[in-house]
Amino acid sequence: MMMRSAVAAAVVAVVLAVAVAAEASELKVGYYDKSCPGVENVVKWHVAKALKANRKTGAALVRLIFHDCFVRGCDASVLLDPTPENPAPEKTAPVNIGLAAFELLDEIKSAVEDRCPGTVSCADILIYAARDAGSLMSNGNVHFDAPAGRLDGMHSHAAEAQHDLPDSTFNIGELIQNFKRKNFTIEEMVILSGAHAIGVGHCSSFRARLTAPKEQILPAYRGLLAGKCGAGPDPIVTNNIRDEDPKAIAATVPSFLPKLRKIEFLDNSYYHNNLARIVTFNSDWQLLTEKEARGHVHEYADNGTLWDEDFSDSLLKLSKLPLLPHGSKGEIRKKCRYVNHY
Ligand code: HEM
Repeated sequence: MMMRSAVAAAVVAVVLAVAVAAEASELKVGYYDKSCPGVENVVKWHVAKALKANRKTGAALVRLIFHDCFVRGCDASVLLDPTPENPAPEKTAPVNIGLAAFELLDEIKSAVEDRCPGTVSCADILIYAARDAGSLMSNGNVHFDAPAGRLDGMHSHAAEAQHDLPDSTFNIGELIQNFKRKNFTIEEMVILSGAHAIGVGHCSSFRARLTAPKEQILPAYRGLLAGKCGAGPDPIVTNNIRDEDPKAIAATVPSFLPKLRKIEFLDNSYYHNNLARIVTFNSDWQLLTEKEARGHVHEYADNGTLWDEDFSDSLLKLSKLPLLPHGSKGEIRKKCRYVNHY
């Protein structure tokens, strides 16, 4: 009897594994070529327009690919709004503080629905949009062909987001475990963390850094952050010191003045900042505390072109994280914020 149930369990496991693999392998580059020709251009046009108006939207999209795909796979579960039926979806989780670009995705979905009703999933739109944002923010250095054919998920729970996504207070062991659970290596974790070259964070996301010792954060930078964070209950601060306002830098870290840039840019500057102890989050600094991770921080500081390529590959890998197999019936949502039966 024991044997039989063990065999049955093994068969179920194999069937599930095959189902997951099949799901992932069904993704195809050019998936909508026949059913919705030109859809990728439509997405790109809207993303480019949005970034022209506000470049910060680019960072928001790059973050969304991570926050969607790490929880239940890339199924647009992060886009679902609270409803009476489901009052606490993923986007209400503390770890999802500051997520943005939802309005842009609504706008894109609506344009795509006008063109091809009921055909293109929000999950695919999110991947296309994040891919395009990465590309536009890096002048095309970050790029990949995005396979598509995902379905939108029907479930979204804050508790799952809180469980599956890394917190900025994590130590290096917790970070490694967190990425390992999704089959990402230490190297890939370091590569993906380079996304913190762009965008912003709330002071509450790095409060403990304001009193961290000088081995962990450059005192002048700590002073800059403390000044900014004193300006309100929970202000936002730019992730990359190079995007700071020159006056603030002149007053606090003048040695960084020549490194300021005119435009926010997705490049390997995160690794240079990290080695100089000028990064916002504890999780960023933690990468220097473990031999392999630290080695990769040096590697990508030294080779920006390699980072562009490896970051593109890692985003592509993220985009292939499959929908959870159990109970994961999918659909093409009409609106990205609500399941169709709502
Ligand atoms: C290694 C673990 C990671 C941790 C602990 C972490 C944590 C955070 C935190 C706390 C914020 C600021 C949220 C806020 O206060 O508003 C943030 C912002 C951001 N994260 Fe991460 N993150 C991680 C990895 C990643 C990855 C893998 C990506 C993408 C590939 C990413 C992309 C971003 C971007 C682009 C922003 C700026 C968003 C914006 O400006 O709207 N992060 N992250």
